[in-house]
Amino acid sequence: MTRPVVIAIDGPVAAGKTVVGKKLSQKLGYKFVDTGTMYRAVAWMAVVRGVSPEDEEGLACLAGEVSLELSAENGERVLANGEEVTAALRRPEVEERVSLVARLRGVRVAMVQKQRDLAAAGRIVMAGRDIGTVVLPDAALKVFLVASQEERARRRHAELVAVGKAVTYEDVLGSLKLRDRIDSERAESPLRPAADAHLLDTDKLTVCQVLQSILELMED
Ligand code: DC
Repeated sequence: MTRPVVIAIDGPVAAGKTVVGKKLSQKLGYKFVDTGTMYRAVAWMAVVRGVSPEDEEGLACLAGEVSLELSAENGERVLANGEEVTAALRRPEVEERVSLVARLRGVRVAMVQKQRDLAAAGRIVMAGRDIGTVVLPDAALKVFLVASQEERARRRHAELVAVGKAVTYEDVLGSLKLRDRIDSERAESPLRPAADAHLLDTDKLTVCQVLQSILELMED
C-alpha cells in the first residue's frame, strides 16, 4: 500500500484510540485529531449556556455556530469560540451528557463537516466512532480497535486513579457500559466497524504492539 494520507481509527470508549492514534501520527509526522474532544466541547458549551441535553434544536444551533480550533500538534487542545476549554472536557457534567449530545443528528451534521474540513489537507490520523463509516469513508486505512468492557474499564480506572480521582472500578465499568450502549444503539451513525476496516483486538496487546500491527497493515 502506498502510505495512506488519511487514517481512520474507530472503536468504543477506552479501546486505545487516542494513545495509539497520537503515537501513530507522531511516527508518521501527521496531524492527529481526536474527534471525541469536539463532541465534548459542544457538550461543555451546552453546560455553560444552559442548553438542556434534550433540547435538540438548541444543541444543533450551538454545534453549527461554535468555532472550534484544535491544536495542530496533538489535536487534543481545544478552543471553543476562542476560549480554552481543554480542561473542562473531562468534567463530570461533560461525561454525563456527551453521549446524549453526540446522538443528535443536527450536532453530528455540524461536527462531520468540521471533521471533513480538517482532513481535507491529508496527512492526518483521525480517531472517533464513525470516521471510517461516515466522516471519511474513502480513508486509505481504517482500523477498528476492540477490547472487552472489563479490560477497557480496568484501563480507564487506572488512568483516573493516576490523576487522583476517587472512583471505583465498578463505577467506571457501569458508566462505560452505559456509554457503549448509547453509542452503539443510537440511530445516527452508530458505533460499528466499516466493512473495509481492520479489526484489532487490543485486550492482550500493549500500545507498542497495537502500533506495530497498524504499521504492518500499512505495508500490506
Ligand atoms: O472518545 P470520547 O470518549 O472522547 O467521545 C466522547 C463521546 O463522543 C462519546 O460518547 C462518543 C461520541 N463520539 C461520537 O459519537 N463520534 C465521534 N466521531 C467521536 C466521539
